[in-house]
Amino acid sequence: MNIKYLKIALFLLITPVIQMTAQTQGINDLDPVIEHKIDSILELMTVKEKVGQMVQYNGSFDVTGAPSDIDSKTKLEKLKNGEVGSMLNVLTSKATREAQQVVMEHSRLKIPLLFGYDVIHGYKTMFPVPLGESASWDLEAMKLSASIAAKETAAAGVHWTFAPMIDVSRDARWGRIMEGAGEDPYLNSVIGVARIKGFQGGDLADIATIAACAKHFAGYGFAEAGRDYNTVNVGESELQNAILMPFKAASEAGVATFMNSFNEIDGVPSTASNYLQRDLLKGDWDYKGFMVSDWGSIAELISHGYAKDKMQAGELAVVAGSDMDMEGRVYEEALEPLVAENKIEEALLDDAVRRILRVKFHLGLFEDPYKYSDAQREKEVLLAKEHLEAARDIARKSIVLLKNESEVLPLKKDVKSIAVIGPLADDTDSPLGNWRAQADKNSAVSVLEGIKNVVGNNAQINYAKGADLGMGERSFLMPLTINETDTSGFTEAVAAAENSEVVVMVLGEDAFQTGEGRSQTGIQLRGVQQELLDAVLEVNDNIVLVLMNGRPLDLSKPNEQVPAILETWFLGSEAGNAIADVLFGDYNPSGKLPVSFPRNVGQEPLYYNQKNTGRPSSTMVTYSGYQDGSREALFPFGYGLSYTTFEYGKLQLSASEFSGDSSIELSVKITNTGNVAGKETVQLYIHDLVASRTRPVKELRDFRQVTLEPGATQTVSFTISPKTLAFYTANRVWEAEAGEFDVMIGGNSVDLQKATFQYKN
Ligand code: NOJ
Repeated sequence: MNIKYLKIALFLLITPVIQMTAQTQGINDLDPVIEHKIDSILELMTVKEKVGQMVQYNGSFDVTGAPSDIDSKTKLEKLKNGEVGSMLNVLTSKATREAQQVVMEHSRLKIPLLFGYDVIHGYKTMFPVPLGESASWDLEAMKLSASIAAKETAAAGVHWTFAPMIDVSRDARWGRIMEGAGEDPYLNSVIGVARIKGFQGGDLADIATIAACAKHFAGYGFAEAGRDYNTVNVGESELQNAILMPFKAASEAGVATFMNSFNEIDGVPSTASNYLQRDLLKGDWDYKGFMVSDWGSIAELISHGYAKDKMQAGELAVVAGSDMDMEGRVYEEALEPLVAENKIEEALLDDAVRRILRVKFHLGLFEDPYKYSDAQREKEVLLAKEHLEAARDIARKSIVLLKNESEVLPLKKDVKSIAVIGPLADDTDSPLGNWRAQADKNSAVSVLEGIKNVVGNNAQINYAKGADLGMGERSFLMPLTINETDTSGFTEAVAAAENSEVVVMVLGEDAFQTGEGRSQTGIQLRGVQQELLDAVLEVNDNIVLVLMNGRPLDLSKPNEQVPAILETWFLGSEAGNAIADVLFGDYNPSGKLPVSFPRNVGQEPLYYNQKNTGRPSSTMVTYSGYQDGSREALFPFGYGLSYTTFEYGKLQLSASEFSGDSSIELSVKITNTGNVAGKETVQLYIHDLVASRTRPVKELRDFRQVTLEPGATQTVSFTISPKTLAFYTANRVWEAEAGEFDVMIGGNSVDLQKATFQYKN
């Protein structure tokens, strides 16, 4: 027997042993047995086969990008030849099994395919869009939703999600703001880690878990003017402290993969950034998973004006540390000749392939390439009852009460009549949001249905749509047409309002108004929605405005018009039931905004953790403000009301100074001073008053959630250590600098009490 084949046979024989040893290890903890096996596989591989592992093909042509130019026949041949290492958008246990079979039965080395997919907020059972879910500030809940999404995805044969998106985003115009955890680096870090742990569980080889992907590395959320894919210009301090903090946390948490980003930073496209990928991630952070490009981003180096052709694009990307080419069709053409011509070292390919194989080993694919593709499990797991129950619970935790004057809410269950009005009121599709994976069209519970489920026949419900919002066909890639003119439904809506005790008006955005490529120059209620609200107000001002949207909206006008506003984002499969739970007080709203809501679009990008500037405040003209309006948010970061009230006692510090590695304790008593039980999110912010790089006026560094019965009091304590104070300093390391700090505590980023302490190192 040929020595090569003997090695393959030996390798297959001992794979189960290898797999067992991998089970308790994170991607960054190298397992010598796995590494050894990877060595021997690499030894067997031709350059073509190595390149093959670095190639990812799309499995369908309608999901995320332009149609591919390679026909299915060629694709099939490439799979058979071991020239493809991964596929995206191949779904269902059946399809994944079939594609895997092609590779396992025909390719020389039988290296299993890795299947990836955008599972952003659920696979079949939809959870709130990530920005909405982040408003829960409930890390366990978010971990749970990711773990359920993983279970459903894995049951459909898919091994890998392109999530979480941990791009800090400060601009409501940017359509993808719905996909992350908002404007704060710390919140993005802890939520990102919770989601990674949810997806990956404790063991990637478990058939209920999948590999996660920290994206987009880096700076994608800082696109100028909120225009998707646009140029990013940030300095080193902002890059490290605001943008990279969540990615560092993701790397430390052992996320299996990273995805780079479409944008350039300071003239260098991230996909070709040596600094980001090679020096920082794989160097300083010692990350051991792999980097997938974003869709076609290697080929896009040409459009950026950074590479003259595919050969140069491939060279730049592989040298910089992009390990896998997602549908760029560059590596398959460029890498082999580049090696042959000695333009790149084969060792670069070895490093990339090693990282990719490492993830495949951790997933258990060498042990059983078909283990995830199980039709029976798929049938049992998708949309399981307990998944929908969790979706409802997480959805109601994500709702933010923005306004509640005269205690309009909660609605009385013995209310005689309710008008339910608005283009989104009986919409069973928009609550699914964008990036809805395999959710069935129109499968969400609408607000109207949710209300009916609570009141049954006890109240008269007067429903009127009032107007359409989005018109025509709606899908991921279709531009959305907004109804700007048709007001023919207004009369019916006004009549419904006239004949009802209270009006629930459901306005906001179509599901496909946010998401990839969905940037907008305006963030007001679009179409004829404001006019509809104006018309209804003429006859009934007892209005609860229920909002559905994936970005912060300009609510200045509606805020002056209506007594109650409920921010519900796009809450997923159980949206209507969750909203009804809050409307009728079966759940006391506890969400807090993960992003500032501006007074108008001109304030964008708006974020609470701003710098003081040299001219912070004055009544004179020459200060950092606007002459035609406020510089403050309408609803600030961290803000959200409850049906009860919480009183904060006096903030106590255990000492007014500390040094070195020691720490001090901060404590505060929280009392529920209202009549119903409720949950409060106690937020801790710091301000480093003088630093080697200027620091924000406040930055979130910790939070706790407490649930209190009426009249109950609880002491909440925080430890302040050098870690709480650390930032990326002028020394180019994360460290705490000595000096004076303010520490602030409260229920949102504005209403805070403050104390001061000294840190000495
Ligand atoms: C492009 C998006 O930017 C990325 O987030 C996504 O994962 C890929 N397309 C694949 O769909």
